[in-house]
Amino acid sequence: MTVAPLSWDVAAGELVKARNDCRESLRTPGFTTVDTQREWFATLNRPDSKMWYWEFTDLVNKTDLEGPGYGAVFGVGGLTFDRFNRSAEISVLTFVRKKGYGLQIVDWLREEAFERQNMHKVWAEVYGCNPNYDAWRSLLRFTDGNVIKTYRPGQKYWDGEYWDSTIYDVINPAIPEY
Ligand SMILES: CC(C)(COP(=O)(O)OP(=O)(O)OC[C@H]1O[C@@H](n2cnc3c(N)ncnc32)[C@H](O)[C@@H]1OP(=O)(O)O)[C@@H](O)C(=O)NCCC(=O)NCCS
Repeated sequence: MTVAPLSWDVAAGELVKARNDCRESLRTPGFTTVDTQREWFATLNRPDSKMWYWEFTDLVNKTDLEGPGYGAVFGVGGLTFDRFNRSAEISVLTFVRKKGYGLQIVDWLREEAFERQNMHKVWAEVYGCNPNYDAWRSLLRFTDGNVIKTYRPGQKYWDGEYWDSTIYDVINPAIPEY
């Protein structure tokens, strides 16, 4: 796997399509367009940016014909920083599902946040209307007891219903007071 800052090609291409295919899983339900991406993209990846986003490329999986293939970007991940409180929200979107790519991205984001960005906590919020809701139990398995789950009833409105959400807070295990 190689990691690079999110490129405009992916931000304006595969990411637009992928976001529009999972609107129920996003915080805001509006459609993503090349124009909305352009404004958002301009805010990313500077030293003082609130959001840093990366693209992840498969350089291992040469034979899996169902996968994206050697050299293809398989997904995008991001951290939204609250640097004052040293916490970061993690976002993940894979272009090919159930091939282990989500896990690779989440592992890398956690390591980036804890080992290189001096974060105390990473967190994610997953809505009950997300068809991949259960995936998060596996995606966060690395943390062995450091995950604090907060259940928020009726947090998300989608398709005429209020859905529950779960927030997963992951405390940096290297910080002794936790
Ligand atoms: C959630 C998401 C990132 C998972 O990515 P993925 O590449 O399919 O995940 P992986 O292949 O690494 O799977 C990780 C684990 O989750 C499990 N899993 C994946 N999708 C699942 C699903 N829909 N239901 C249940 N389990 C699932 C896998 O079996 C695996 O567990 P295992 O190793 O114990 O078998 C992906 O579905 C996605 O991009 N969804 C749309 C965006 C989104 O919902 N993001 C989360 C909110 S920020």
